[in-house]
Amino acid sequence: MINVGVIGAGYWGPNLIRNFIKHNNANLKKVCDLKEGRLEFIRKSYPDLSLTKDSNEIINNPGIDAVVIATPVNTHKEIAIKSIEKGKHVFIEKPLSDNYNDALEVVNSAEKNDRILAVGHIFQFAPAVTAIKREIENGLLGELYHFSSQRINLGPPETTVDVVWDLGSHDLSILFYLFDEYPNCVNAFGSSYWWNGIIDNAHIFLDFPGKRTAHIHLSWLSSNKIRSTSIFGSEGNIEYDETKPDEEKVIFYDKGIDSRINAKDSDVKDLKYGKGETKNIVFDKGEPLYLEVDAFINAILKNEQPINNGIIGCEVVKVLEQASKSIKFKQ
Ligand SMILES: NC(=O)c1ccc[n+]([C@@H]2O[C@H](COP(=O)([O-])OP(=O)(O)OC[C@H]3O[C@@H](n4cnc5c(N)ncnc54)[C@H](O)[C@@H]3O)[C@@H](O)[C@H]2O)c1
Repeated sequence: MINVGVIGAGYWGPNLIRNFIKHNNANLKKVCDLKEGRLEFIRKSYPDLSLTKDSNEIINNPGIDAVVIATPVNTHKEIAIKSIEKGKHVFIEKPLSDNYNDALEVVNSAEKNDRILAVGHIFQFAPAVTAIKREIENGLLGELYHFSSQRINLGPPETTVDVVWDLGSHDLSILFYLFDEYPNCVNAFGSSYWWNGIIDNAHIFLDFPGKRTAHIHLSWLSSNKIRSTSIFGSEGNIEYDETKPDEEKVIFYDKGIDSRINAKDSDVKDLKYGKGETKNIVFDKGEPLYLEVDAFINAILKNEQPINNGIIGCEVVKVLEQASKSIKFKQ
């Protein structure tokens, strides 16, 4: 049994609390938030849960093995390093930090102290993404070429971060997980339209050491939620639409053209050109957040870093930082 403390019970924290309570190998010992109103909210659902406004009651508690951090991103590093140095395993909500140097410090501290570090890249545990990863590993797409995604929704009514830092880690963590590779060049364009002075529409372009490229469009400019990802390869492409029902979420399109580019004139009429065969990719159901919590608990029990480890967390922050710098440079 892993004893857990959660720090931060704002918008997202209660979802983590619910899933740690649900897990058979986790024992949620204490929840902390600075705001009495948030603790009151948690007390209504879980009257027996021990609550505190002082995070030291979790960090310094010898009866707690793992600390879950769901506070704003600018507080992650301090809470994480204090926790790790007190011997705790740490789960930090995405993004790992608000700058690359701090992210690296957290990763180094976890390594030095031999602690498990997980970052809240929830989409690495979405069953649809797990299925895409499986199909890529099985060779369905052949050689991987390009990743393209759009993540669009109305922005939060109040925010301290821009659209890149709010939404970007989801697509970047999916991209790095599927490509199993990190970019060597990042460029971005963005503007502030509705959210005065805060970037609310951005395009990030990534180039990888081989031939691969990626493009991510992040926007807070529509009440129509769009969650669309395409992965292109030598044998076809996979279209993943998170807003669709499970049976239609992930579709493979076999390539619609014949590879005989240099065919003789007499063969041209027989060449395949058009919509390829399609195949709906099936996968098991499961709540991504529960699967993510399960991976964290299992990582601690097996003493193995999870797939959403500090390295991928750091790389995500590095690109978010590079994209922000690139956007500022172009304004
Ligand atoms: N995985 C996801 O899909 C997802 C979704 C939303 C948010 N998040 C992430 O979760 C984190 C929190 O976001 P949120 O939207 O819940 O923010 P929020 O502002 O709604 O909640 C943060 C809470 O942390 C508390 N807090 C701040 N400093 C604290 C401290 N030192 N000790 C104890 N409590 C403290 C605040 O009082 C607040 O209640 C962020 O990293 C965010 O990116 C992840």
